[in-house]
Amino acid sequence: MSRLVYVLNGPNLNLLGKRQPHIYGHETLADVEQDCRALAGELGLEIRFHQSNREYELIDWIHEAREAAGGIAINPAAFTHTSVAILDALNAFEGPVIEIHISNVHKREAFRHHSFVSHRADGVIAGFGTQGYSLALRRLARLLDDAP
Ligand code: DQA
Repeated sequence: MSRLVYVLNGPNLNLLGKRQPHIYGHETLADVEQDCRALAGELGLEIRFHQSNREYELIDWIHEAREAAGGIAINPAAFTHTSVAILDALNAFEGPVIEIHISNVHKREAFRHHSFVSHRADGVIAGFGTQGYSLALRRLARLLDDAP
């Protein structure tokens, strides 16, 4: 199983650190990427880290992952709650998928309680702040270690 992991981020996450810091914290997405790269080195993972505000780009990266990657960690942001297209793309990916939310979506507005992506995700991490990304990578590393 490939040790390459895609870490995908949906809309508005480029504003992390500036956008609603009382909800999402002060760390930027560049900080998160740096932490993920450092941890990936320790876990023996290679990562491709991407963010887009465009649904089709996220879908294209999932298709790319289908050819090359062992696992996907995805924070689909608002597309979590709207995108059957991202769910369908993830359903075409065979490896483990971990869904990440920086905030605890279940403590927030009712429209954030449903996730299309959770219909596919092998695990969901919500409310651990940006630390959720490290937890997702650790889980993916374990699942890839245990894969036949
Ligand atoms: C989010 C939660 C979503 O509801 C929201 O639309 C986001 C970020 C999170 O990381 O907590 O943009 O996915």
